[in-house]
Amino acid sequence: MDIKAINIKKYERIVFFTGAGMSAESGVPTYRGEGGIWHEYKWQEYACQDAWEKNPEKVFDFHDLRREEALKCFPHKGHEIITDVQNSHPDVSIVTQNIDGMHQRAGTENVIELHGSIWRVRCENEDWIKEDLAEGPFANRTCDCGAWLRPDIIWFSDMLNQAVLQKADEAISNCDLFISIGTSGVVWPAAGYPHLAKSSGALCIEVNPKPSEQSNMYDFVYRGKAGDALPKLFIL
Ligand code: OAD
Repeated sequence: MDIKAINIKKYERIVFFTGAGMSAESGVPTYRGEGGIWHEYKWQEYACQDAWEKNPEKVFDFHDLRREEALKCFPHKGHEIITDVQNSHPDVSIVTQNIDGMHQRAGTENVIELHGSIWRVRCENEDWIKEDLAEGPFANRTCDCGAWLRPDIIWFSDMLNQAVLQKADEAISNCDLFISIGTSGVVWPAAGYPHLAKSSGALCIEVNPKPSEQSNMYDFVYRGKAGDALPKLFIL
């Protein structure tokens, strides 16, 4: 359905919740749709601890490619609008499943990255996490201590970072406007977020060209692309 522009002054706490569809218009492939990454690559071979332990080079190659692809892409109008909303309102949280850093490149701050980032690595031996912003493949695959570095990404079957999860839960359970953009809603705990927002009494809006697993939870559904919907929803 077509919806009117939102008056952000009417809401005290706003949450944008984004998935791969948010980056799709920038040219970053989604995971499950047409041309989705998991159609081309078996996640069992590239995106889980088992794969990593069997063949870290292969997993690094896959993530190097993700970094190179992301660098060829640029934030679109929808990303810019989220930044503008954040700059125009005192309480806006962005919770994303995306690991590509596109929100930050559009100037959005304090992005809660549920699934980590391809722009960070961690050494599990020395217990640190650092940014690796090399403009291309990861600068290093091993730590000075000799251990493999690991892309700081939540892979299939990994536990989510509890501090990150808590931040996301807090933001969503206290918001009064929840806008979900470009997620299929099949991966937990993210799949539970529309329910959490709804039970907190938030107005819930979905932006997605196709129905998602959670579409029936939303008060309004915008069947269209992020880059079309956001300029219509937020006229600042
Ligand atoms: P999916 O690939 O599962 O879903 C992408 C969604 O975006 C689909 O529902 C599309 O219809 C929608 N979409 C496509 N183009 C769009 C556009 N221009 N505007 C708005 N929506 C659009 O991606 P996610 O739901 O983000 O995890 O997937 C969740 C997680 O599963 C990912 O973070 C990833 C994956 O496995 C990890 O890698 C850990």
